[in-house]
Amino acid sequence: MIRAEHLTKRFGTFTAISDVSFEVQAGEIVGFLGPNGAGKSTTMRILGGVFPPTSGSAQVAGFDVARQSLQARQVVGYFPERVALYLDMTVREYLDYVADMKGVAGKQKGHDIDRALDSCVIGHVAHRLIGTLSKGFRQRVGIAQALVGRPRVLILDEPTAGLDPEQVAEVRKLIRQLRGEGTVILSTHILSEVEATCDRVIIINRGQILAVDTPSNLNQRLRKKSRIQLEVRAPVEALQSCLQSLPGILAIEPGYATSDGVTSLTVSTDPDRDLRAEIATAIIDARWDLLELRAVTLSLEDIFLTLVHRPPTPIPSVQH
Ligand SMILES: Nc1ncnc2c1ncn2[C@@H]1O[C@H](COP(=O)(O)OP(=O)(O)OP(=O)(O)O)[C@@H](O)[C@H]1O
Ligand SMILES: [Mg+2]
Repeated sequence: MIRAEHLTKRFGTFTAISDVSFEVQAGEIVGFLGPNGAGKSTTMRILGGVFPPTSGSAQVAGFDVARQSLQARQVVGYFPERVALYLDMTVREYLDYVADMKGVAGKQKGHDIDRALDSCVIGHVAHRLIGTLSKGFRQRVGIAQALVGRPRVLILDEPTAGLDPEQVAEVRKLIRQLRGEGTVILSTHILSEVEATCDRVIIINRGQILAVDTPSNLNQRLRKKSRIQLEVRAPVEALQSCLQSLPGILAIEPGYATSDGVTSLTVSTDPDRDLRAEIATAIIDARWDLLELRAVTLSLEDIFLTLVHRPPTPIPSVQH
């Protein structure tokens, strides 16, 4: 549904994105994740038909965004980073105007507007002037305008930026509701956002794609070692030497003893082996109380930082 092939965008001598390629299948929700200046908005502007790439090409629903920009824009709902709203129009007037611009007429127009108002929970402010609305509500009006015309592809550039937590939850719910209905690509620099809403993640940094995968696969692939968190009623040194004797233990992080004789420590193990059962058996054989044994998984945050701070050799991406 979305295909980006070797997209490069230069502004003068500055390269904002370089050789960006990815695909988004119909019905997928994909998150474009990267820090400030990574090239998220630049990529989205190309997909939204704001400007063409310097080289490479992109298609939405089979239309080339540069050469067939009119057709491409008709199937796309685009929520830009800085949405230009008409502050002296009411919300409904504005959506009506957007519908006209998109060529949505007749019965479908009223229906689309009502649906967009409903989806973005702004029905109760439909009669208000946009200029009198709070930032969060303006943001929702911006998302509502993207929904008018039932676009097959939604491009949302930081849809939850500047919203309060309740509104963030509502927008995420809205995005999840679109699953299966349309194809969504959204950008964010917030990790929990992609975990909460996306089927796949594209991680971008300094204009280059670092990884494309599901949040859980990324987690798996990047786990260089497994870690296990333990709490055992045992002396620190005795526990450490017991664990050291087990095959497959790579390292034991210095533990600490709490006042009631409980030692808390983390061990790193061979990622291809699940050593939890062996560790539990060894502790029980030593007649210690095993209070906690837990595999620690890397959060997306850890993965993201690992990738972003890595030297610029991209890791191989499993493309869809
Ligand atoms: N019109 C422009 N002229 C010159 N440089 C630009 C232009 N637009 C973007 N850039 C530069 O390209 C790089 C990528 O910008 P982009 O807006 O795509 O980043 P982003 O990932 O969306 O960041 P943010 O999270 O801050 O929104 C940045 O270094 C930015 O300064
Ligand atoms: Mg941006």
